[in-house]
Amino acid sequence: MSDLTALDRIRGLLIPVLPEPISDPGYLDLLGEASPAGSPAQRLMRSGFLPRIYERFWRPALVGAVKGPLGPDTGQEEALVRAMLALGPADLVLDVACGPGNITRALARDIDDGLVVGIDASATMLARAVRDTAPGHIGYVRGDAVNLPFRPASFDAVSCMAALYLFDRPFEALAGMARVLRPGGRIALMTTRRLPLAGPVNDLVGAVSGIRMFGDREVTDALTRLGFSGVRQKVYGLMQFVSGRLA
Ligand SMILES: C[S@@+](CC[C@H](N)C(=O)[O-])C[C@H]1O[C@@H](n2cnc3c(N)ncnc32)[C@H](O)[C@@H]1O
Repeated sequence: MSDLTALDRIRGLLIPVLPEPISDPGYLDLLGEASPAGSPAQRLMRSGFLPRIYERFWRPALVGAVKGPLGPDTGQEEALVRAMLALGPADLVLDVACGPGNITRALARDIDDGLVVGIDASATMLARAVRDTAPGHIGYVRGDAVNLPFRPASFDAVSCMAALYLFDRPFEALAGMARVLRPGGRIALMTTRRLPLAGPVNDLVGAVSGIRMFGDREVTDALTRLGFSGVRQKVYGLMQFVSGRLA
């Protein structure tokens, strides 16, 4: 079960909400019966089945294929994200669209008296996250990544891995991530990129699955516009890793 102390600390970071979030499932539930609108890909994330196979089979196979043969494996990817975020032991970290908490737990290895908060809309993913997370300095929230429920300038670092392409309003979500970061805060993203010279294929993927393929400068330019400096991008196959620091 997620540590109640971590949930209590998270309550202090939330924009006041009514009704009070319930914590019975082991995470703070801000959505109740409501769920953000869902594409086929998002509905899959809410199924009871996917969280059971996600971390061991689904993610390595699918994300691995999209990253291509030269892309980092899961361990290298986690190391890359931790390096991009340059975490300190007392940092407050937000993992947006945390799924079953795989990246959340990887980030928590750098944290001592800080806190890592995972937020996701899927109750089934979060149930798995709570099940697989030892009590300590990690806690989970069920909420909408496009409308983050945290007070401005709450976090030292924000990650959003393998999820921006699922959001119906990804640039609004990025603006929200910038809003909850403190000045000097770091961001690390992993998302899709468009198959070069294959516009119609990219559009078809989007239409059928709800997965958005981002142009090579779309995400980096968005971060620059939001006030990030030192924006960097690494490209592997049809995935891009993007990082930056809020001025
Ligand atoms: C592919 S998983 C990524 C999990 C993890 N971040 C990783 O890197 O493996 C995508 C997650 O995004 C979540 N998600 C999609 N749209 C969301 C939204 N609007 N708000 C919160 N979570 C969302 C899904 O529920 C799912 O758990």
